[in-house]
Amino acid sequence: MLKQPVRHLIDPEDLSIEELDALIKLAQKIVHSPREYADACKGKILATLFYEPSTRTRFSFESAMLRLGGNVLGFGNANVSSVAKGESIADTIRTVSAYADIAVMRHPKEGAPKLASQYSLIPVINGGDGGHQHPTQTLTDLLTIQTFKNSIRDNTIAFCGDLKFGRTVHSLIRTLARYGIQKFILISPEELTLPDSLKRMLNQTYSLQLEEVRTIEEAVEEIDILYMTRIQRERFFNEAEYAKFKNAYLLDLEKIKNAKEDMIIMHPLPRVNEISYEVDQDPRAVYFEQARLGVYIRMALILKLLGVECAC
Ligand code: CP
Repeated sequence: MLKQPVRHLIDPEDLSIEELDALIKLAQKIVHSPREYADACKGKILATLFYEPSTRTRFSFESAMLRLGGNVLGFGNANVSSVAKGESIADTIRTVSAYADIAVMRHPKEGAPKLASQYSLIPVINGGDGGHQHPTQTLTDLLTIQTFKNSIRDNTIAFCGDLKFGRTVHSLIRTLARYGIQKFILISPEELTLPDSLKRMLNQTYSLQLEEVRTIEEAVEEIDILYMTRIQRERFFNEAEYAKFKNAYLLDLEKIKNAKEDMIIMHPLPRVNEISYEVDQDPRAVYFEQARLGVYIRMALILKLLGVECAC
């Protein structure tokens, strides 16, 4: 039998809409019957190569592999690996290919996971590269939307915060456009709007409307999904620039008093100063559930990329 080529997930577009839907369905099956998958990856090893800090992405991947019966190794700080001695990404991933069956990499440089995939003998997953892409957050977001809204397509989605540097927004908006969503509301300071190149691509490729406003209150009544984001401090050139925007949006109960009763509030987390703690008690706040669902979609992704056929 011919060996299947290694598949990576570097960009959400590496997966077709049919494959995304299948992953969401598989994740929902795992949510309902986790025990059936408890040995699906027995004997397999996931490597987590994190050159940038993370809580959710790294731990949810590790949790996912452990819940599938596999094992994990890796680093959450590249300075404890031979990267500190100057080892290249190419040599690191070649070596890790001999020690693990699948790897997830986060890196501050855009394109680093793609470069790794070109030298890797095992599937490489992009766990976030600079201000570029965060495909597994997109998978998590899709599962969250499907779970709480029962449909991905029929929603008006507002993105709020740092739309310039926020990689979760860049990945998700392109994917939702592929799903056929027709209207996006973009809420940001003028200096942190969605990059022009991305806006141009969306307008030229899809039949959709991008409405730009500066405040949440201007649009809140028509929003089905409010996707809050953090101002990305680590992407600013200096602290003074960051200070100008760090408190640009703080969602509180007053700001959502005219929102739809079934609107949902999402956030990839971590939050810094975008959502008041009082909002956590509102039934529309689903961001911690979103983080929880990230484990199940990553379990589904690991099964797919490893080609694990289980009788689950
Ligand atoms: N959403 C997300 O990527 O969170 P972490 O930075 O904690 O992984």
